[in-house]
Amino acid sequence: MALLDIIKAPDPRLKKISQPVEKVDSEIAQLMDDMLETMYLAPGVGLSAPQVGILKRVIVVDVSKDEDNRLPVRMANPVIVWASDEMFDYEEGCLSLPEHYAEVSRPEKVRIRYLDQQNEIREMETEGLLAVCLQHEMDHLDGILFVDHISKLKRDTILRKLSKLKKQEKKERRKSGSRQKVAASA
Ligand code: NI
Repeated sequence: MALLDIIKAPDPRLKKISQPVEKVDSEIAQLMDDMLETMYLAPGVGLSAPQVGILKRVIVVDVSKDEDNRLPVRMANPVIVWASDEMFDYEEGCLSLPEHYAEVSRPEKVRIRYLDQQNEIREMETEGLLAVCLQHEMDHLDGILFVDHISKLKRDTILRKLSKLKKQEKKERRKSGSRQKVAASA
């Protein structure tokens, strides 16, 4: 198991389209497990491979929020084969846009076809929070963030704040870096 670095927006890598996996082999199965471990630690309820810099159509989700009764979902090449007309509104967040939330409207129920960790083709019909999360993660595979579903004004405000935060963090890292250098040379 290994922890992966989660890319924060704004970042061009989050806008790329991910490639399908040819086969869920041991490497992809391991990636799924590493992504789950990273997601649990964050903590979050979903994570996609592009968020950890790997442009492959792989997602993991667990909405159980219960450490003792985890319900991990691992999917490769997920596609929506049916979606309900009824919509469901939910206040979404994202590990790549920390501390920001916005209400997004998506189909309430979806049926998804995917490859599981054993490379078997499966279908899952989901609704509510699980359906929201799976659709949110699948969006990431096409370079779409939850803020792309809200008004431009709100999106720009969130991205501007994140961009500012990034610059600040970079500055602080540089500062602590030079302090270390002084300490080492003293
Ligand atoms: Ni996300």
